[in-house]
Amino acid sequence: MFNLILFGPPGSGKGTQSENIIAAFGLKHLSTGNLLRSEITQQTPLGLEAKNFMDQGQLVPDAVVIGMVGNFIDANPGATGFLFDGFPRTAAQCVALDALLKEKSSEINIVLALEVAEEELVKRLLGRGATSGRSDDTNETVIRARIQEYHDKTAAVEKYYAQFDKVVSIQGEGTVESIYDDLKKEIDARI
Ligand code: AP5
Ligand code: MG
Repeated sequence: MFNLILFGPPGSGKGTQSENIIAAFGLKHLSTGNLLRSEITQQTPLGLEAKNFMDQGQLVPDAVVIGMVGNFIDANPGATGFLFDGFPRTAAQCVALDALLKEKSSEINIVLALEVAEEELVKRLLGRGATSGRSDDTNETVIRARIQEYHDKTAAVEKYYAQFDKVVSIQGEGTVESIYDDLKKEIDARI
């Protein structure tokens, strides 16, 4: 298996770039944000619990997210690899993911970290909020809270994988195509 984490702050382009990468490399796309939004749409107990956190720009509790990821991995036994988008987001999630992959005799091969300046993130998310229907995009206070959660809790993810030399930084500003070319080069070199 080839497993990749596409890492970066809210609005850095994880979802956008994931689409191209999964199409080119045949990986399974695991976006915890998308899974949580689908639970909310279906009004499941998990979705109802997650919604309050998401609407305030806060992370959903680790146990909820880790359980969901474990189920997704188990539901895709034939996968040749996973692209993790928006997961892991805390040090505890990193440890849990390593354990889940170890059960499948696998591991994270690379962490591609998209670097985008904060004002550009806010601009992108406010722009998308006008049309996306995502409740966490519509106001700047919630967007800034998401970015703060990223600094407080999620930046630790990059440190965790850096100790194993797995992180590659990618300039996340520019055209979608040029950023994809840079990502693809790094994947091609390792897959
Ligand atoms: P999640 O859905 O993961 O959202 P996010 O990380 O806040 O990031 P986004 O999805 O908004 O941004 P993105 O990096 O995917 O960028 P995109 O490609 O969309 O999480 C939502 C919430 O769920 C969290 O706040 C939390 O509550 C909860 N959650 C999820 N995972 C969790 C976890 N593991 N643990 C705990 N809680 C969790 O692009 C953004 C915009 O920019 C788009 O409009 C796009 O068109 C535009 N754009 C993209 N690339 C470019 C470019 N190169 N130039 C100009 N514009 C661009
Ligand atoms: Mg996304």
